[in-house]
Amino acid sequence: MTEEPLTGIQACVFDAYGTLFDVNAAAEHCRDALGDDAAPLATLWRDKQLQYTWLRSLMGQYADFWQVTGDALDYALAALRREDPELRERLMDIYRVLDAYPEVPRMLERLRDAGMKTAILSNGAPPMLASAVDNAGIGGLLDAVYSVEALGIYKPDPRVYRMAPEGLGVESGAICFMSSNAWDICGAATFGFRCVWVNRAGQPAERLPGEALAQLPDLSGLPQLLGL
Ligand code: LAC
Repeated sequence: MTEEPLTGIQACVFDAYGTLFDVNAAAEHCRDALGDDAAPLATLWRDKQLQYTWLRSLMGQYADFWQVTGDALDYALAALRREDPELRERLMDIYRVLDAYPEVPRMLERLRDAGMKTAILSNGAPPMLASAVDNAGIGGLLDAVYSVEALGIYKPDPRVYRMAPEGLGVESGAICFMSSNAWDICGAATFGFRCVWVNRAGQPAERLPGEALAQLPDLSGLPQLLGL
């Protein structure tokens, strides 16, 4: 890890879920129905969602992230004995328009004002990403939104990360990649991005190859870290 500004960066590429958009917001918005199950549901839903992306990738059984998200929710609701079609629909409807973290729009504006290219690189299906971006009002602050859908495989397959340098026309070493998911940072760093781990939950580092050059508690400090 370094305290020095990361220089020579031409593009900032962001993971979407958990990094720009609050994956716990859906369960939180349904706390009236979920009560004390809100937090365990959010955690189990997210864990299963990610596991299914990895497992489906290994199985060669791609299904889009909307389906995987719904399957993971079904598992989590069943595990907590909260199966309820109306609650399921409500949670999925909110997932489509998850809240952005509060610092995100201003941070993107500052990057853009400094001439930085900006993009999302995500497992999300294009319609999910489009509605979350729209809802957050950040579409005008992004050069591109890249989805794994074009490849039919999930992160951390290196082909996913390759979409950003190819699409933006910026070499990997001049791309700064931000994710709150430590495993995503490992995948992106081994691919060749310079990585900043947005460790919102204060988690320990993964024991995997590929390291972040810096760690932030949220995205508000990113422009300063880049020397902007
Ligand atoms: C994404 C997941 C990994 O947006 O958060 O790609």
